[in-house]
Amino acid sequence: LRELGDVLLLDIVEGLPQGEALDINHQLAEQGIDCIARGSNNYEDMKGSNFVVVVAGVGRKPGMTRMDLLKTNADIVKGVCDKIKNYAPDSKIIVVTNPLDPLTYLVLKSLGGNRKQIIGMGGMLDLSRFKEHISTVTGISRDSVQAMVISEHGENMLPLVRFSSLSGIPLTEFVTAEQSEDLATKTKSIAAQVISLKGATVYAPGNAVSTMVESIVKNKKAILPVSALLEGEYGYNDVCIGVPCVLGDEGMEKIIELRLNENEKQVFDLGVQSVKNAIKSFSL
Ligand SMILES: NC(=O)c1ccc[n+]([C@@H]2O[C@H](COP(=O)([O-])OP(=O)(O)OC[C@H]3O[C@@H](n4cnc5c(N)ncnc54)[C@H](O)[C@@H]3O)[C@@H](O)[C@H]2O)c1
Repeated sequence: LRELGDVLLLDIVEGLPQGEALDINHQLAEQGIDCIARGSNNYEDMKGSNFVVVVAGVGRKPGMTRMDLLKTNADIVKGVCDKIKNYAPDSKIIVVTNPLDPLTYLVLKSLGGNRKQIIGMGGMLDLSRFKEHISTVTGISRDSVQAMVISEHGENMLPLVRFSSLSGIPLTEFVTAEQSEDLATKTKSIAAQVISLKGATVYAPGNAVSTMVESIVKNKKAILPVSALLEGEYGYNDVCIGVPCVLGDEGMEKIIELRLNENEKQVFDLGVQSVKNAIKSFSL
């Protein structure tokens, strides 16, 4: 839809990606968009891809946390890494499969790539949800909302009211402390509600990935929440977690370090700990 390039949909289920591709092409044709969608069950068709978006894996069922998917999805994603190594070793990679931060780390380590090239999408989706709540609570246009969500894409997500604004005016001028708490709680819990209502989240994650790809393809250098490998930033090393990053044509070009207060740092530290515990279970 954003005319960023052709798309190959690759799945192990025969017919499914081909059917999706037909449906998508019919929409694009009517809209006059000349990007082509193709479906395939053959990884070899990945050859020459500039980007690989890793979504293979199972999703949460109602009542599950993202971390409950760790063992199953780590095995699937390791298999996908072997294919990327063979067919698209120089591509930029965006990991989406949950649990997002540990699996981003797994892909990075399995491929031995650098952190500019391999990143994860989790915070962008959390941000979409946070923005929606901010607009609803304040009654101000979604278009005026600037916000940030960092830390783990999971139980220790950190929506940052202190670093959010409505057209540059601090959000704290519009909401009470109680409303701030509520905004953070709702942002954390809303995915489970979508899953219990319709089984999976679809449109908002697709849009979130596109925003990341667009910033890289167009070298926009947008600051977006991204799961990235920390190398000393925020006082940590060798862990992938959501932080504000500049995305440009080199990929993840820079991590922005925010001055977190004690409460924020406490949640961020719990997020890092949770991801580190998960990472320990991988045999890399
Ligand atoms: N990071 C995020 O913000 C975010 C958002 C939404 C979903 N997710 C995660 O993304 C993953 C996929 O979610 P979904 O709702 O699209 O699930 P889904 O079940 O609709 O799709 C997953 C697809 O992966 C395919 N698959 C399994 N193994 C494969 C392999 N080895 N190679 C290629 N394809 C393979 C399955 O056949 C299936 O069609 C889940 O882990 C989910 O939790 C993450």
